Amino acid sequence: MYKGLIDHYRSYLPIEDHETIISLCEGQTKLIRATNLEKMLPGLEIYLKFDGLNPTGSFKDRGMTMAVTKAFNANSKAVICASTGNTSASMAAYAAKAGMKSFMLIPDGKIALGKLAQAVAYGAEIVPITGNFDEGLDMVKTFCENHPVTMVNSINPFRIEGQKTAAFEICDDLEDAPDYLMIPVGNAGNITAYWRGFKEYKSFGKSTQCPALFGFQAEGAAPMVKGHKIDKPETVATAIRIGNPASWQFAEEALKESSGRVQAIDDDTILKYQCLLASTEGIFAEPASCISVAGLFHAYENKQIEMNSRVVCVLTGNGLKDSDIIMKSGFEMPSVKENFAEVQAQLLRGI
Ligand code: F0G
Repeated sequence: MYKGLIDHYRSYLPIEDHETIISLCEGQTKLIRATNLEKMLPGLEIYLKFDGLNPTGSFKDRGMTMAVTKAFNANSKAVICASTGNTSASMAAYAAKAGMKSFMLIPDGKIALGKLAQAVAYGAEIVPITGNFDEGLDMVKTFCENHPVTMVNSINPFRIEGQKTAAFEICDDLEDAPDYLMIPVGNAGNITAYWRGFKEYKSFGKSTQCPALFGFQAEGAAPMVKGHKIDKPETVATAIRIGNPASWQFAEEALKESSGRVQAIDDDTILKYQCLLASTEGIFAEPASCISVAGLFHAYENKQIEMNSRVVCVLTGNGLKDSDIIMKSGFEMPSVKENFAEVQAQLLRGI
């Protein structure tokens, strides 16, 4: 029986036999072959790593099972994070499972409603702030220096350890690493974790190569592309509305070592590819996730990808978390029908 990613990849993770594992059976999000995208981008074998299928709907659960397990076994009573929404939802769920208190600092009005609803349901203490994610993270760091509360942002090393298992799963599914990995970049923890995972798996002889990492940031929140901090990051992809990534340096190293690159994608393009992905592949991912698909098309059009390659796009979060964005995208509800004749009239117009 599958018991979550710590149990499954135990020998690759810093976990002791006596430790109690806090798990919600995260992980094992199987690669989905993007057969319809492949028709649009001939010459490529394309797979989607839909991590929105995790228990709280995002890849954060991979890191959170490790971070909360470690905090619990260290007898920590509470966990804390700054978040654009997904980290806090995940933290709140794992803290609930562990019977621990959780605190989250969020930029007021700037996190998707579904993510906030999760935190409310799981019972986190919500601290809205006027500042953005970067300012929230600074406050959390300062608070944790003086109080016995465990920080579970991705600068917590156990987060990265848990998240590297996504790379293991990809290699297990493909029986090797892909040639390219397309990945959204916000605070840059995930790209750091993937790179560690791919390198470790290769060093253990479980794969023969590492992929080139192609990271993507939103145009209005692209510090790594611009080469400097962004004081007021803005993007419709609120999950990656970050101007000063904590793991910037690690991400730069990963990009360099993998012969990858980081590029910016504008908001309209992100939303366009969110709809394309949902309407052609049947996968509803949140905007920040879809930047990896938008990025793949961008890289293909600019001839940055060699033909006959295997590409994996990482879809980090579930579209249901941010349903507002779709409902506001120009959709109009047809008039309500009062009888069969009216129903039939509409159906016949659609045939
Ligand atoms: N995609 C989604 C859906 C995210 O929620 C995040 C980060 C990222 C991509 C970027 O990952 O930060 O490791 O580079 N969300 C964080 C949060 C910041 O608070 O939920 P990263």
